[in-house]
Amino acid sequence: MKAIDIRNKYLSFFEKHGHKIIPSAPLIPENDPSVLFTTAGMQPLVPYLLGEKHPEGTRLTDYQKCLRTVDIDEVGDNRHLTYFEMLGNWSLGDYFKKESIQMSFDFLTKELQIPVEKLSVTCFKGDENAPKDNVSYEYWKKVGIPEDRIYFYGKDDNWWIAGEEGPCGPDTEMFYDTGKPACSADCQPSCNCGKYVEIWNNVFMEYFKSKDGKYTKLEQKNVDTGLGLERMTMLLQGKETPYDTEIFAPIMNKLEELQKVDSIKSRRIVSEHLRSSMMVISDGGRPSNIDRGYVLRRLIRRMIRHLNKLQIDLNELPNLIELNIDNLKEMYPDLVTNKEIIKNVIIEEKDKFVKTLEHGEKEFYKEMEKAKSQGKDIIPGEVVFKLYDTYGFPPEVTKELAEENGIRIDLNKFDELFKVHQEKSRQGAEQKFKGGLAEQNEITTAYHTATHLLHEALREVLGDHVRQNGSNITSERLRFDFTHPQKMTSEEIKQVEDLVNEKIKEDLNVTCEEMGYDDAKKSGAIGLFTNKYGDKVKVYTIGDFSKEICGGPHVTHTGELGKFKIIKEEASSSGVRRIKAVLIKE
Ligand code: SER
Repeated sequence: MKAIDIRNKYLSFFEKHGHKIIPSAPLIPENDPSVLFTTAGMQPLVPYLLGEKHPEGTRLTDYQKCLRTVDIDEVGDNRHLTYFEMLGNWSLGDYFKKESIQMSFDFLTKELQIPVEKLSVTCFKGDENAPKDNVSYEYWKKVGIPEDRIYFYGKDDNWWIAGEEGPCGPDTEMFYDTGKPACSADCQPSCNCGKYVEIWNNVFMEYFKSKDGKYTKLEQKNVDTGLGLERMTMLLQGKETPYDTEIFAPIMNKLEELQKVDSIKSRRIVSEHLRSSMMVISDGGRPSNIDRGYVLRRLIRRMIRHLNKLQIDLNELPNLIELNIDNLKEMYPDLVTNKEIIKNVIIEEKDKFVKTLEHGEKEFYKEMEKAKSQGKDIIPGEVVFKLYDTYGFPPEVTKELAEENGIRIDLNKFDELFKVHQEKSRQGAEQKFKGGLAEQNEITTAYHTATHLLHEALREVLGDHVRQNGSNITSERLRFDFTHPQKMTSEEIKQVEDLVNEKIKEDLNVTCEEMGYDDAKKSGAIGLFTNKYGDKVKVYTIGDFSKEICGGPHVTHTGELGKFKIIKEEASSSGVRRIKAVLIKE
């Protein structure tokens, strides 16, 4: 079965069971500055897991584009991927353990026809925060999993939370037995020898963990499940790695045909990073030196390096992109729409990187001469790291050059410095993820409503050509990007500020209505990013001032917002201005 068939089967199975199919949210979360990328199907649904009403109801299903970059350096082995697709189904205070287990079991054994003998499951063994999950255990037995293939594990294995704070709960995980011999008499699903592969995770989200480590019960009991599509495809096809499935095979084969030096690891890295960078660019990402942009830059540059390793002419890149889009277009039609942008961004980044490599090479020779003139036959690790960190010059390239020039490099010291650096970025990335989910609070809700007021005020003061181009909210401020050809004058800024403050003073009611997408448009509601919405949408109306399609949440009265102040108006990109504004509590 092909990946797309598994996806379609999944969505229609859950649709048959009363779930609404909702579209994948973009890889780059909107209104969420502190999260780098969407990393799980539940992430865009956090407000609804916390009790916000979802316009499509209480049973949802989707495929979600995800990017996890914590293990970026592991890519090239037989299992790690940065981009992956997560199939998921959710109960928002609707069904719970019994139905969830029944549906998962039926989907696996009937729709995908996995023999029951291949399945093992795990449940939460209980601790001081939550009891042993005997309920799931009993249901698994009832549907037909024998007792000796049901395992109980603790929080490390059978508890799911995104980061440190947020909705969470015990989970039950399903494992597929690959048929490989057991590594020991005690080989179990928790063992990572490769015999058992986790295929699905059903989280029973009934708790909320706060920053201080306290658990409280959520208002509603939710189910959040996630099934990794690439992994399932590989298992069902009896393949050893995702690279052997139709998702990657065409590009892998093409690379093999073009390569002058053989390396399966490099072919995997190129195939994997090409797919993820295409997906990120298609969802609006661009390379830069910080945060998301930096991740994309690393993906593209690592891909280029491995193309170099394979000694594939970099002029082949446009063909490789074409081939990959052609292969993935059925799954992701957006790739076709964005083909030119994807090509341009990757090629431009390639050109920059080629220059970096040339530049780094010059620096290398300078450093080498310096070392030699001091009578040393080794280039210090600090220099290797500086070449890497400042010039983007990869250590393996430094090593190759050093070998060619009969000098050694201190790789041990480099590794040490690199590890410290990596740990810092890992912590940074985790912090971002945690922060993003935690930032659903009163203050960000207020900023969210202020953003709607600002949007409308800009349209009234500057004209209807103003359209939202991006929005980014933290507890400290809002940031709003919008289309407008020139710098705003100080009078215009003041007018906008005054208008927003006037609407705050009027203490307008904020109301929400659910309606069909077309009706929402007809009603005059503004709202971009149309592909993110399903058929039904929420429209937030603020008095008779603003009407906007939005997922919420919002305050109920504008009077709650405090005083609105624009602190900066600047250019964002060509034809796009950026405003930063704060709310001051009075
Ligand atoms: N949130 C859980 C996970 O990411 C289930 O979807 O595994």
